[in-house]
Amino acid sequence: MKGVPAEVSLYEVSLRDGLQNERVTVPLGEKLRLVDALVAAGLRRIEVTSFVSPKWIPQLADADDVAARAERHPDVVFSALCPNARGLERALAAKLPEIAVFMSASETHNKKNINKTIEATLRAFEETIGPAREKGLRVRGYVSTVWGCPYEGAVPPEASVRIAKQLYAMGCYQVSLGDTIGAGTPRQTADIVERMLDVLPLEAIALHMHDTRGTALANILVGLEMGIRHFDASVGGLGGCPYAPGAAGNVATEDLVYLLHGMGVGTGVDLARLIEAGKAAESIVGRPLPGKVLQAGARSLRA
Ligand code: HMG
Ligand code: MG
Repeated sequence: MKGVPAEVSLYEVSLRDGLQNERVTVPLGEKLRLVDALVAAGLRRIEVTSFVSPKWIPQLADADDVAARAERHPDVVFSALCPNARGLERALAAKLPEIAVFMSASETHNKKNINKTIEATLRAFEETIGPAREKGLRVRGYVSTVWGCPYEGAVPPEASVRIAKQLYAMGCYQVSLGDTIGAGTPRQTADIVERMLDVLPLEAIALHMHDTRGTALANILVGLEMGIRHFDASVGGLGGCPYAPGAAGNVATEDLVYLLHGMGVGTGVDLARLIEAGKAAESIVGRPLPGKVLQAGARSLRA
């Protein structure tokens, strides 16, 4: 297929985006078991936790321990969400090589999620992004509600483009565009990606698609055909955003890997072991997860 890259890089978010939205608080040992299972499956970029306020996200109150104790491997990069200078201090104490700052393209979601206006958030990031880079950390940026806001509805693409451009200019090596509420459809995705490609290098764009309405893979396929090479995913489809009512999990990593491998696109991931990691995630949260390949198995009917 025209434009589709030979290889893509996956960024695993189940331990953060997934677990932040679970009713149960998963014990530290179980989180570390999931980290190991994801590494064993071949995932090389893993967001292991979030250095946010434990009052806001109690499920990740053990972030310092998870980040410090996750077993290191030379080719695996662990990252964590980080909203402010206090988060950066915690990331440095845990010796993480990367953090991810996050904000929304819509005011209401930004306010509900991080308790600041968009402009105040960008100002506050000056105390986070620059200092993190001075200490040798890489910084990723998220823009949420790019495809729609749970409070405001449609979000003008210009608003997302302006923030993405600014995060990149401030020093984020990559900007992950979030369909926080899983509302996107393919033509909208083509429009958003085209506008982003006008202001950001291809390598600086990642897609973070929640699968609330079953359109995540269709949107990712559009991105792939436009050359995008970075995709966020969550094993089993674990997750959501606690400040986006009704948001379901990210696209399931195993569904995305099945699709990519079927198209001949390399990921470095072993699908059978990824399914094992998905089973581990199910046992850890104590409920079946929605990932389709997790439920149906990896069998391909291709000759
Ligand atoms: P605030 O209440 O406005 O901040 O929260 P504050 O500076 O006034 O601090 C209040 C308290 O929080 C203080 O403690 C601070 O020390 C503490 P107290 O004096 O009350 O005991 N605090 C912290 N503690 C630990 N680590 C920190 C930290 N910062 C302050 N880093 C804040 C502002 C940003 C902290 C808060 O709003 C927050 O934690 N929000 C996080 C919300 C969140 O995690 N949402 C989900 C992640 S975003 C998402 O899922 C979307 C994404 O997946 C992409 C997509 O899908 O689109 C990324
Ligand atoms: Mg998300």
